[in-house]
Amino acid sequence: MLDRPEPMIRRVALTAVLTVGLVGLLGAPRGAASAATAQAEGGCEVSRPATCSLSELAALVPLRIGSTAEAEEVVDGPYADTLAREFSSLTPENALKWYSTQPNPGEWRFEAADAVVGFAREYGMQVRGHTLLWAQDTYTPTWVSSIDNAAELNAAVETQIRTVVGRYAGSVARWDVVNEPLSTLGTGPSDSVFWSVLGPDWIADAFRLAHELDPTAELWLNEIGSDWVPGKHQALLDLVSGLIDQGVPIHGVGIQGHRLNSQPVDGVALAAQMREFTDLGLSVAITELDVATDPSDPDGFTAQAGVYRSMFEACLAVAGCEEVTMWGLTDASTWLDSIGIVPAPTRPLLFDEQFMAKPAYWAVHGLLAQQVAPPTSSTTSTPQPAPNPPAPPTLMPAAPVPAVPRFTG
Ligand code: XIL
Repeated sequence: MLDRPEPMIRRVALTAVLTVGLVGLLGAPRGAASAATAQAEGGCEVSRPATCSLSELAALVPLRIGSTAEAEEVVDGPYADTLAREFSSLTPENALKWYSTQPNPGEWRFEAADAVVGFAREYGMQVRGHTLLWAQDTYTPTWVSSIDNAAELNAAVETQIRTVVGRYAGSVARWDVVNEPLSTLGTGPSDSVFWSVLGPDWIADAFRLAHELDPTAELWLNEIGSDWVPGKHQALLDLVSGLIDQGVPIHGVGIQGHRLNSQPVDGVALAAQMREFTDLGLSVAITELDVATDPSDPDGFTAQAGVYRSMFEACLAVAGCEEVTMWGLTDASTWLDSIGIVPAPTRPLLFDEQFMAKPAYWAVHGLLAQQVAPPTSSTTSTPQPAPNPPAPPTLMPAAPVPAVPRFTG
């Protein structure tokens, strides 16, 4: 097997950690790393932001910056290169969901998840495990959603959590234990057999079991539309507060952040919502950011860049907002193009079909650069759009991971 070049991301991450540690010790506020300390190896100099990738800048804020990936994407050259260069967190888009890991009773499938988790480990990225229990019957295997007996469903849930969390213990930094427990466009419980058959304690039980299986993993609850569906933020806050009151081991709340270009972002309101979670002692993250454009709008990408910038600004304004993950990497592949809610192509991501950075990329990049090296009279913090980000290291495809009961990377 050929030797793999030492990925730039590892060297930079080390320097970034040291720098961030230093800034922390000195008590500097978030985002106030000086240009002198905030200089990373591997060609990234924050005083010349165009030399830095998103993850290099974000590490100095500090902020995790994430993308999704599927197994076939982490073996694809440009896709893998871009992931490793630009991101510090990876969310398997589908590979860890129940419908992927156990589509039929006792039929365990881990090849796809192993490939994504193995890639993340190889390139020093943290894994966001998405998701143990997606509380939408539409996205629950039929053999599970058709169980109408609490004891039987509890046993199935327990086996699922034991098997999946147990397998990836130590390899998955944080789990979205429960996804979308509230109704998509409302404030009540979602349409799920977990609510209707198991009753109100199913979320607390799932978190407790996951914690028992991997006490080092952070446990998160993830929700869609809580930032803009009327009343939904309060419903989510009530749900989460109830869990905390019961002593449930929960570490964070994920705000998915799927947005439309035509939907203005009230960054102040979003930051205030996030602070209501951090005031409870939790972390928050934007976990599934994408911004659909209208194919007939010639200025779509400019407006899109503004929406991305506002979403990142809201996160950066909250001390406990520690991650922004994009729901996809390039416009060539997005779930939005197939759901039929918005006209395709939606082109909602940071990179175009040819892996070229879009205005949205540069809006985020400029914002992060400003955070780590505030503009002075002699420097410009926002780089002008360049043809593309710095040339990536060439990566070898991830090695296949053998099917073993416990994931070892
Ligand atoms: C989506 C995936 O992107 C699609 O490939 C899949 O067909 C359905 O699920 N909210 C979530 C994600 O929490 O898991 C969803 O992902 C998108 C909406």
